[in-house]
Amino acid sequence: MVEGGFEVAVRLPMSLGESPVWSAQSQTLYWVDINRGHIYAWQPASGEPPDRFDLEEQVGCVALCEDGLLAALASGIERLTFPLGSRRVRLADNPEWRAGGGNRFNDGRCDPSGRFWVGTLAADEATPSAALYCLTDGELTQRRSAITIANGLAFSPDRQWLYHADSPTRRIMRYPFDVSTGTMGDAEVWVDLDRHDLPGVPDGAAVDSDGNYWCALYGGSQIVKFAADGRWLESHALPCPDPTMVAFGGADLRTLYVTTATQHLDDTGLERYPLAGSLFSMPVTTPGLPEPVVA
Ligand code: BGC
Ligand code: CA
Repeated sequence: MVEGGFEVAVRLPMSLGESPVWSAQSQTLYWVDINRGHIYAWQPASGEPPDRFDLEEQVGCVALCEDGLLAALASGIERLTFPLGSRRVRLADNPEWRAGGGNRFNDGRCDPSGRFWVGTLAADEATPSAALYCLTDGELTQRRSAITIANGLAFSPDRQWLYHADSPTRRIMRYPFDVSTGTMGDAEVWVDLDRHDLPGVPDGAAVDSDGNYWCALYGGSQIVKFAADGRWLESHALPCPDPTMVAFGGADLRTLYVTTATQHLDDTGLERYPLAGSLFSMPVTTPGLPEPVVA
């Protein structure tokens, strides 16, 4: 385990920081606090603190659009126009949401063809009642079911593979992926944390330009780097137990940003990990891939 690589980029007391996404166009990092329904926007080069936009409901993730962001709120997917909130258009309802309850949207990302993929999270975080969806041409279709906590969505740089993790299984799956049609082939177990004796569960991830998969281990206090063939390469420690997702950003895409959570810490935990809930960063040598924009 490599210690000391990560520093606090923005000190925050987020409940469930998630979904960091870098816009190369505006040199802005976006991310959310799912539980509080907040979207953050931050230009590291500005020297200013982040802006925060408050929605009235939980927001699982965001993706980049031409003139704004796509946001997967608990109840459905909306397109938010810049300046954030100036215009909101509902694109699709969450089929697993019922007035005030049900399975909210969780991890999501845009594929290299501009389709938006997003999974849900079982309300009890225990029953496999959640699913994985794809939004194309305004239509939301279910692609996989029997999931408990959908996480870890990413695409290999050669566009041949879709990665996905159902967190409680502690496994990361990969599916042969046809980028022209958006079709997924049969699942194969790509990484099993049990076999590597790694702690926590696989949460959010990002792939670098060499095809390495960088994954946050929620409950495992670390970011792990796996090679394209599934080999463990490196672990980087964080000063808090629950990192949630990573993104490459910065002018050269050589800064790795990580969001973290405090939602599972009690008073003792909060005292012990005073930086939990912050945004962290670490320089890396291999750059990330530019994040695609939703078509
Ligand atoms: C979910 C959290 C969950 C975590 C670990 C995240 O994607 O939003 O609620 O605790 O994954 O499974
Ligand atoms: Ca997640």
